[in-house]
Amino acid sequence: MSVTYTGPYKKGDIKKVVLAYSGGLDTSVILKWLQTTYGCEVVTFTADLGQGEELGPARKKAEMLGIKPKNIYMDDVREEFVKDFVFPMFRANALYEGQYLLGSSIARPLIAKRQIEIAREVGADAVAHGATGKGNDQVRFELAYYALKPDIKVIAPWREWELSSRTKLLEFAEKNQIPIAKDKRGEAPFSIDANLLHSSSEGKILEDPWEEADESVYQRTISPEDAPDKATYITVDFEKGDATAVDGKKMSPATLLTRLNELGKKNGIGRLDLVENRFVGMKSRGIYETPGGTILHAAHRGIESITLDRGAGHLKDELMPKYAELVYFGFWFSPEREMLQALIDKSQENVSGTVRLKLYKGNTSVVGRKSPKSLYSMKTVTFEDDQGAYDQRDAEGFIKLNALRLRLRALGQGGPKR
Ligand code: ARG
Repeated sequence: MSVTYTGPYKKGDIKKVVLAYSGGLDTSVILKWLQTTYGCEVVTFTADLGQGEELGPARKKAEMLGIKPKNIYMDDVREEFVKDFVFPMFRANALYEGQYLLGSSIARPLIAKRQIEIAREVGADAVAHGATGKGNDQVRFELAYYALKPDIKVIAPWREWELSSRTKLLEFAEKNQIPIAKDKRGEAPFSIDANLLHSSSEGKILEDPWEEADESVYQRTISPEDAPDKATYITVDFEKGDATAVDGKKMSPATLLTRLNELGKKNGIGRLDLVENRFVGMKSRGIYETPGGTILHAAHRGIESITLDRGAGHLKDELMPKYAELVYFGFWFSPEREMLQALIDKSQENVSGTVRLKLYKGNTSVVGRKSPKSLYSMKTVTFEDDQGAYDQRDAEGFIKLNALRLRLRALGQGGPKR
């Protein structure tokens, strides 16, 4: 058993390629470039991940660029995205470098998985994506492709072509009759990636990490300053670690996240200005908006606080940075991510109940939690008479034994510096 390393590819090497196609200018240029460079058949795949754009125009554009209707794939994958990718990740409370809720990272394996499924369906020997050679997304796409289909040929035009400047790209578009929206004539002020979980903006005017991002960068939250002066109270129900209802109303995963996004948006919740470490080695600055995800993260921690045993919770928290790094680095389809997921899912068996939250001017506060599976014992913790639930005298021996080695250290070695 072995893998063969092929490429770089020449004209004639590629028969049919499945392109992750947004319908935007860049991926339209890629579409044409694939046809002309490799002389291959192009199949487009456009996913509705909740980015808030209609899929219709992408279909029209693909048709206009000569793609046959049977080679145009469009899928609404919002429910699958939230149920099978976002929710499992939120069970882990995953945050990359302490802050990033991984909104772009978690969408890539799903897009890649669909591309490979389509490649199998149509008998394509290659896949292509529009991520650049400097970022994380190329890694995420391609690790997923190779994990799912080891013999797949991968084409990453941004790493190959000569269309390195905006001018050259526009020239190519013009020459090939690719329509260019008026607002795309000039340089885009920054790069955006959006889906149901988040919007990310980076590059160009955001590159100086000292310069505060202009209000106009934010697209799916109002600013905390403009948020209502009155707090919004909500409840979120959980079953086995996954959110199932908002304000008592049962909702499908994608509907629920959409609802939390609305609530977050109007309360200015989920903005993050972050400098992070990319997998390829450089630091980059990004502006993230994760309104619903920020509420969900807080709510999930809230329900875990009463339903998770301390040992289970602490172990899970130790492993969380590793899990988050795996997702960020693109190792979703790896044995180690699956192992951690099994552990995390096991921990969620009793993570059920209801959390009450207060949303106010950019803040999300858990203000109440209850669960039929609660480990919280009011009778034990009370400052009043606990009627024998806890014997305070037990604490004396508990502390003495824990202090034993500290006392011996003080006697034998002088103890801590004073
Ligand atoms: N830095 C983020 C990540 O690696 C977002 C990348 C995509 N965002 C973009 N605006 N192109 O997950």
